[in-house]
Amino acid sequence: MNYPASVKIVEVGPRDGLQNEKQSVAAATKIELIARLGSAGLRAIEATSFVSPKWVPQMADAAEVMAGIARLPGVSYPVLTPNLQGFQAALAAGAQEVAVFAAASESFSRRNINCSIAESLDRFLPVMQGARAAGVKVRGYVSCVLGCPYEGEIAPHAVADVAARLFAMGCYEVSLGDTLGTGTPLKTQRMLGAVLERLPLERVAGHYHDTYGMAVANIYASLQMGVATFDASVAGLGGCPYARGASGNVATEDVVYLLEGMGISSGVDLARLLDCAAWISAVLGRRPASRVGQARCAAMA
Ligand code: HMG
Ligand code: MG
Repeated sequence: MNYPASVKIVEVGPRDGLQNEKQSVAAATKIELIARLGSAGLRAIEATSFVSPKWVPQMADAAEVMAGIARLPGVSYPVLTPNLQGFQAALAAGAQEVAVFAAASESFSRRNINCSIAESLDRFLPVMQGARAAGVKVRGYVSCVLGCPYEGEIAPHAVADVAARLFAMGCYEVSLGDTLGTGTPLKTQRMLGAVLERLPLERVAGHYHDTYGMAVANIYASLQMGVATFDASVAGLGGCPYARGASGNVATEDVVYLLEGMGISSGVDLARLLDCAAWISAVLGRRPASRVGQARCAAMA
């Protein structure tokens, strides 16, 4: 098997997780979460998003969060930017990396960012231009790569087309989002097969929500194909406001446990990460969604 020797985990809990939180979460809590994730060894922590507060009120404090985080050397703190307005706000807040987000499904694109796929890609062009001028790195997302809440099945070539467009416009990495979390391993491999015909392996990341409990299996299937970057959310926080019923990303603890078991390094300290997962879950008044977190809690009880 072609497993990578090391994996980069992009922690998306503070953004993908908390954007979907029903209760309001204080900026100070978000800032502390980001600090604890950094102490646990995460080297890429998606901090917030500069989107319309009317669409996603949970991220309305983006500038406050960016102002409050203590940046650790060697750690990146990317933020989501759907358009030039968001990019300019992110830049003013000191962001050094941003992410643009498109979808492989027309209906999801409309519901999520109120425009077609083609319009969204056009909107990203000035963002790419501004980012190049400011020396800011841009990551790209494709949503609904393994199914859409409105359209059902999505063809692998449709995913590959959008991923290739994002890469061609200058995204250094394209993260493939199973937004609904309905994907299964062989389907994941078929989708990756189509994308890898168009993008270099080292530019591809997996972003799998865990709604049907398949995310770890889909990561394993992706590792078999050599993919070495995965997005994950501490304590399995989150969901997507425009994909009803979808649960959070795969829990970071579950991914680290899988990687440790396979002898693949990630640089993350599992014990510290579990403490962080227990802390944020307690703040939000629930148990960690991760299997590893629950197993450790049970073992300590
Ligand atoms: P729109 O209403 O079409 O925007 O929304 P507009 O350009 O017509 O502007 C309307 C109003 O929004 C104006 O304000 C603008 O100033 C304001 P008003 O004059 O009415 O007071 N506005 C903004 N405000 C703050 N920041 C901005 C911004 N842009 C416009 N950047 C828009 C279009 C894209 C803004 C909106 O649809 C939006 O914000 N969508 C974000 C949705 C979102 O954040 N979804 C979750 C993240 S994606 C995700 O979770 C998937 C992912 O995890 C991968 C996966 O799992 O698949 C990444
Ligand atoms: Mg997501």
